Amino acid sequence: MNVLILGGGGREHAIAWALSRSEQDPKPKLIVAPGNAGTAKLGRNVTDLDIEDPQAVVRYAVGQCIDLVVVGPEAPLVAGVVDALEEEGIRTLGPSAAAARLEGSKSFAKDVMRRAGVPTGEWAEFTEEDAALAYLEETGAPVVVKADGLAAGKGVTVAMDLAGAREAVHECFSGRFGEAGHKVVIEEYLEGQEVSLLALTDGVFLVPLAPAQDHKRAFDGDTGPNTGGMGCYSPVPVVDEEAFAKMAQALAAVVWQMADDGNPYRGVLYGGFILTEDGPKVLEFNARLGDPESQVVLPRLRSDLLELVLATVEGRLAHAEPEWSDDVAVTVVLASGGYPGAYQTGKAIEGLHHAEEVPGVTVFHAGTRESEAASLTTAGRVLNVTALAPTFEEARERAYEAVDRIKFEGMHYRTDIGRRAIVQQHGQS
Ligand code: GLY
Repeated sequence: MNVLILGGGGREHAIAWALSRSEQDPKPKLIVAPGNAGTAKLGRNVTDLDIEDPQAVVRYAVGQCIDLVVVGPEAPLVAGVVDALEEEGIRTLGPSAAAARLEGSKSFAKDVMRRAGVPTGEWAEFTEEDAALAYLEETGAPVVVKADGLAAGKGVTVAMDLAGAREAVHECFSGRFGEAGHKVVIEEYLEGQEVSLLALTDGVFLVPLAPAQDHKRAFDGDTGPNTGGMGCYSPVPVVDEEAFAKMAQALAAVVWQMADDGNPYRGVLYGGFILTEDGPKVLEFNARLGDPESQVVLPRLRSDLLELVLATVEGRLAHAEPEWSDDVAVTVVLASGGYPGAYQTGKAIEGLHHAEEVPGVTVFHAGTRESEAASLTTAGRVLNVTALAPTFEEARERAYEAVDRIKFEGMHYRTDIGRRAIVQQHGQS
């Protein structure tokens, strides 16, 4: 079976790694576009395919006899890549462009949640700056201001005071985010821990994966600017059975609402939840696997990922029950100097093999490319050092021992990834 994975980050390396461990005979052949130095070791990288051009992806998939496509990032989903592939009869993991609006439009997601009765923060939406500013005078702060569309992860501001909220509204309407900022959602600030729950869905049945907790701020102690994620762990001790069931119910309610609306949602549904005093509430949806969530969730999956993906795209999830390792997973992101601000690339990475000699450790590549002499850095987030172990204490020890063995100029990382899980286990949240 020829499998094409779209994307080139840590998530896509983790997907390729999990698919490469499939027990299917013969083993799937993996092609990753554009891929990175890590995926190059598991299959073939294709660097000249525009993965946001639906017709280019279809032409490539037909030409290469691709049997299955797994879409990593959101941009190809919103561009309609899944629709084009499915029209051609190529099985694809990911929602249609219309269903991917759950991620692509905050107001669309809120409307679906309202009609599905899913708990989420109070909100209002605006297409005029003056009306949005007037509403802020009513809500006060803290408050969350979101550009409605996709803004490369920069369109959401958690404003702790009114001046910051006004500035965020102005920024959206100033055109900085293009189309994405033409509509603004102003939302209640929810207090509590943030948890990600991802699920596979065939449009009717839903199979939740293991929960994970991301570390979004750049520096230790959850300080500094927001990033794409500096580390993650799974499972999440603060998520008890009741919270897990409520989060899974919320995802299922959305899937059923989308089916009722005649806009079925198939693929991966990612719920970002806040565990409030009144129970889990949805902060946002993503239409894909999370990054760096995938780098801790997939290594804990004992079942065959290829089987699960095929069951999803073929509408056979009713009887799927993934098995999970009892081990916990912690991943530490190694970033380029300066990230999430300006950073340099092209730095040689040393010590990768030595790092993977630490028991339980896998290094997922994110922003790397192969050169003759070494792997080189190509992006802000460079590597994800993932460790599996029976306890969070051991997983942290293993991950950081491996981190100590890796070097590239300017490398920085958080030293407290997974510490929160240990605190949660001791009953403080
Ligand atoms: N972990 C955040 C994301 O995947 O968007």
